Amino acid sequence: MSDNLQAIEALSYEQRKFSPPPTFVQSAHVSDMSLYDEAAADHEGFWARQARELLDWSVPFTQVCEWDLPYSEWFADGKLNVSFNCLDRHVLAGRGDKVAFYWEGEPGDSRVVTYSDLLDEVQKFANVLKSLGVAKGDRVNIYLPMIPEAAVAMLACARIGAAHSVVFGGFSSQALADRINDAEAKVLITADGGWRRGEVFPLKNQADDAVKLTTTIEHVVVVKRGNNDIAMQSGRDHWYHELMAKADDVCVAEPMDAEQLLFLLYTSGTTGKPKGIMHTTGGYLTHVTYTFKYVFDHHPETDIFWCTADVGWITGHSYIVYGPLANGATQVMYEGVPNFPANDRMWSIIEKYKATIFYTAPTAIRTFMKWGTQEPAKHDLSSLRLIGSVGEPINPEAWMWYQENIGGGKCPIIDTWWQTETGGIMISPLPGVTVTKPGSATFPVPGVGAELVDEEGNHVSKGGGYLTLTKPWPGMLRGIWGDQKRYRETYWSRFAGRYFAGDGAKLDDDGYLWLLGRVDDVMNVSGHRISTTEVESALVSHPSVAEAAVVGANDAMTGQAIIAYVTLRGGLEVNEQVLREHVATEIGSIAKPKAIYFTPDLPKTRSGKIMRRLLRDVAEGRNLGDTSTLADVSVVSELQRRAAETPSED
Ligand code: WT7
Repeated sequence: MSDNLQAIEALSYEQRKFSPPPTFVQSAHVSDMSLYDEAAADHEGFWARQARELLDWSVPFTQVCEWDLPYSEWFADGKLNVSFNCLDRHVLAGRGDKVAFYWEGEPGDSRVVTYSDLLDEVQKFANVLKSLGVAKGDRVNIYLPMIPEAAVAMLACARIGAAHSVVFGGFSSQALADRINDAEAKVLITADGGWRRGEVFPLKNQADDAVKLTTTIEHVVVVKRGNNDIAMQSGRDHWYHELMAKADDVCVAEPMDAEQLLFLLYTSGTTGKPKGIMHTTGGYLTHVTYTFKYVFDHHPETDIFWCTADVGWITGHSYIVYGPLANGATQVMYEGVPNFPANDRMWSIIEKYKATIFYTAPTAIRTFMKWGTQEPAKHDLSSLRLIGSVGEPINPEAWMWYQENIGGGKCPIIDTWWQTETGGIMISPLPGVTVTKPGSATFPVPGVGAELVDEEGNHVSKGGGYLTLTKPWPGMLRGIWGDQKRYRETYWSRFAGRYFAGDGAKLDDDGYLWLLGRVDDVMNVSGHRISTTEVESALVSHPSVAEAAVVGANDAMTGQAIIAYVTLRGGLEVNEQVLREHVATEIGSIAKPKAIYFTPDLPKTRSGKIMRRLLRDVAEGRNLGDTSTLADVSVVSELQRRAAETPSED
């Protein structure tokens, strides 16, 4: 780890500063420091006020935070229903005709879904789930494209107290099966297929392969979207539209305990097995509703919000489904890729729906930069008033490009740092008050305690360190499904009494935080977390592979790129492409290595530990540091020679 810290120290930072534009400040929810002061003065009181003001409780809470490290409970004696807060209360207040989603399909078809429509669908689908035997406390797996039914399915689970586990549609059948098995899900909700890059990608076939590897799935519900041919297994598989046509209209939202499990979301850690991150009801909803309102400075009457994430990731959970809907937001939801039919698709969608807030990832911004300024220039983006970024550090160059070419020089940028585990945004500017610097996520939001520490856990007030969170917060994970030992070890053992995020960061002279990436064996590829061990296990599961070492190397477009070093079993040969496809089958396309180097040996210490640092140096073309602990130095020089020779795939 000290290697990483040194790398962090070496990085310089930006001097440019941008104040919130006066016109933005005028109408901003937060335009002074009072929210920060209030939270600093009374942490629990602050969160209790947010929970009471922003949410409707069926039974008001009297307890705020019960903190028994590493476990927290928030608002534990209160009761509320998440789907009631996201839907019913808006309809009851007369806002049923307000648009919840302007949905845009990739082929160009579209749907307008109002809050009333959404409430009707959710009630019916909640009844469908009940009719399939789903009860409070059960787990339901969701494997869908970006269609409104994804939100319907999630909210229907919440309505009846079943926990959902959404698996990103790009994951393989094996990855889906692993997640179903770990969660012991009863029902799987999928689609025939979805649109991507002008073609239908099959989901139901993948789902069928996954279900073969599981024992707990009793029913599969299939939404018709791709119109591709699929097989339906009688008794087990049901068409969504057929079940919905028969379902009762009314399903009263049952008040849930604040600590009722709302969902599991699997994310990569440092071992091969993904972790089922647990989020519960009242605290999570408070956190995402609060951050959506204040960090995005959301005004329900005038804003059109567009978050480009997929619902399969935490960003989609917190800032497409729960945060925005609890705030009664009108959103754009888009099914497909940014370059279909052409490289200006995103900008044409912003123009079409007059989006006012746009939230995307740095890797996407760098791709837009590559496509050129003429693409956004073809469209009127003047409706935008705020733009945001999430998922990985945003480099100052991309930040400036985003501000000038998408924000028209007038939109504040919020660079929001958070994690699957944190549930909602933790470090970010508040756009009406924070002076931003390109590339810095700036400061913790009111109600969040963050601190940098050194190797020994001592406070760092300037320079590089490890990012830790010092106080419990309502949206924090409640643990890892079925593995609370791992929960404690992963997040709470590295530094006593604090949550260790796994990220390195730097504090500049003005106290601004600069997030600098993971310091563990987790890679961040295009804003997605993939562990080196996960890819290594996928590689060694191929019969021809004896040993594999995987590192994340800096990459101008995707943040990090997956580089694999592979030794083959004696006498066997295999083509690089075959192994890449094998990883895609085991995990999903997002985990395909960018380059695979075959080597007779991997660099190891004398005790047999693979020296990843050296491999990263080789992959990034750096001069090697200390190689004195290496058992066989010639292994590395051979790898360097090969790296210099082999052009890596783009
Ligand atoms: C990891 C969490 C939060 C939703 C998307 C990713 C990195 C996230 C930023 C940011 C620098 C960031 C961190 C973090 N990360 N946002 N604004 N600046 N790094 O969620 O898959 O749970 O990954 O993403 O490394 O630990 P995730």
